[in-house]
Amino acid sequence: MVEAERKPVPIGVITEIHGPVAVIDCDTLPPLHQALCANVANETYLFEVHQHLDKRHIRTIILHRNASLHRGMVVYDTGASLHIPVTPDCLGRLLNIFGEPLDGGSALKTTEFRDVHSKPVPIHESVGVGKVLETGIKVIDLLCPFIKGGKTGLFGGAGVGKTVLIMEFMHSVATLHKGVSVFSGVGERIREGHELWHAIRDAGVLPQTLMVFGQMDESPGVRFRVGLSALTYAEYLRDTLKKDVLFVMDNIFRFVQAGSEVSSLLGRMPATVGYQPTLSTDVAEMQDRILSTHNGTITSVQAVYVPADDMADPAVSTILSHLDSTVILSRAQASKGIYPAVDVLQSSNKLMDRHTLGPRHYSIAEGVREHLARYHELEDIITMLGVEELSVADRKIIIRARKLQRYLTQPFWTTAAHSGIPGVSVPLESTLTDCENFLLGHYDEIPEERCYMRGVMEDLVR
Ligand SMILES: Nc1ncnc2c1ncn2[C@@H]1O[C@H](COP(=O)(O)OP(=O)(O)O)[C@@H](O)[C@H]1O
Ligand SMILES: [Mg+2]
Repeated sequence: MVEAERKPVPIGVITEIHGPVAVIDCDTLPPLHQALCANVANETYLFEVHQHLDKRHIRTIILHRNASLHRGMVVYDTGASLHIPVTPDCLGRLLNIFGEPLDGGSALKTTEFRDVHSKPVPIHESVGVGKVLETGIKVIDLLCPFIKGGKTGLFGGAGVGKTVLIMEFMHSVATLHKGVSVFSGVGERIREGHELWHAIRDAGVLPQTLMVFGQMDESPGVRFRVGLSALTYAEYLRDTLKKDVLFVMDNIFRFVQAGSEVSSLLGRMPATVGYQPTLSTDVAEMQDRILSTHNGTITSVQAVYVPADDMADPAVSTILSHLDSTVILSRAQASKGIYPAVDVLQSSNKLMDRHTLGPRHYSIAEGVREHLARYHELEDIITMLGVEELSVADRKIIIRARKLQRYLTQPFWTTAAHSGIPGVSVPLESTLTDCENFLLGHYDEIPEERCYMRGVMEDLVR
């Protein structure tokens, strides 16, 4: 959409303000999702229309942090819904929900704008998912691979390593694939945003990255919409630059949470477990826009906070239903020092079949999973009776499964500064060869601890 010269026209006055929600008395009712604005001391505050209360009154959410707004203030109609400036120069920038710079740089120079509420591309223009997107992270590539054009969720409670895994993934994608990525920080710690920004700059991949932030300190209105802003940029890069785009979000649960805050402030009755009645449409509105076309793909990776480690939480299960691949991080693994703390037996990938993976990858992954599953089954027996009580065949499986479990840990670039171990990236082919050797028993004599936190096995065998 090209911005016409619009002059905001006065539309009404503020009559009530409840935190991020304002009631406005209007002369004519603006449509839902319309953006309105008010000016205070050279600052423009934006409102988004959410409810028509009666013939004159509307409820809006304020898309700003600390509003110095007050009753009686005049509100203007912008004539459109929230739209953001788009230009190829957005790459390398750190922006807020309105596409304004947060990095101290100059404003984006462009006459082109996009609506953050645009519709998904029509079904006939969208294309399906493609091949495996290699990440260099052993356990991911082998057992829950990311698929190009697919949607992956990284699930886990607080502090199990979702953000670390996302940062490592962005690092590897930028260095391995040289694609562009759009990162959206939604309602998470502000410090993490700064760290990511520095990490990306230090890795030299800033020119291929765009970051859009609306973190914890922002109002629920901002946290609710920032994901859509970021997604709009991802769509723009896909359509205009015809690029393969990686759309990364940390954390989509915060989007649902912000929606729930907004919903209760709008006076809607909560539904299941206190979530908003619009939970499934809110999530679908975002997820269904993450599509690939003939012009380019959007591959998305989303961190999903799991409240109280309960996967049955309605928000978590709603998000889960949209994903192709789910990577579940478990506290039990993390507490044993197994990082990344992927729970291999719970994680799954709908697209993981012989056709997508190829027969070799498929059978090795199956072999590894079977070993780990058998080990899991026998764990209690081993604790009570000891390994000696097991059959010879089971004992072999245990030996190999324990080594595989350790082998699937990996030092990360992201944590190198803390752990003192430099990060490693392992090509999928090497992971496959190593795991095949484990399964065939070629590493039966190697002590377990030498399999832990390393890259490939080859150098050790040599
Ligand atoms: N791959 C890893 N290697 C080493 N430590 C890790 C790893 N992943 C997570 N951790 C530890 O767990 C902490 C919390 O991780 P974080 O990603 O911030 O959790 P979350 O985003 O799930 O809340 C990190 O600060 C780090 O100490
Ligand atoms: Mg986190």
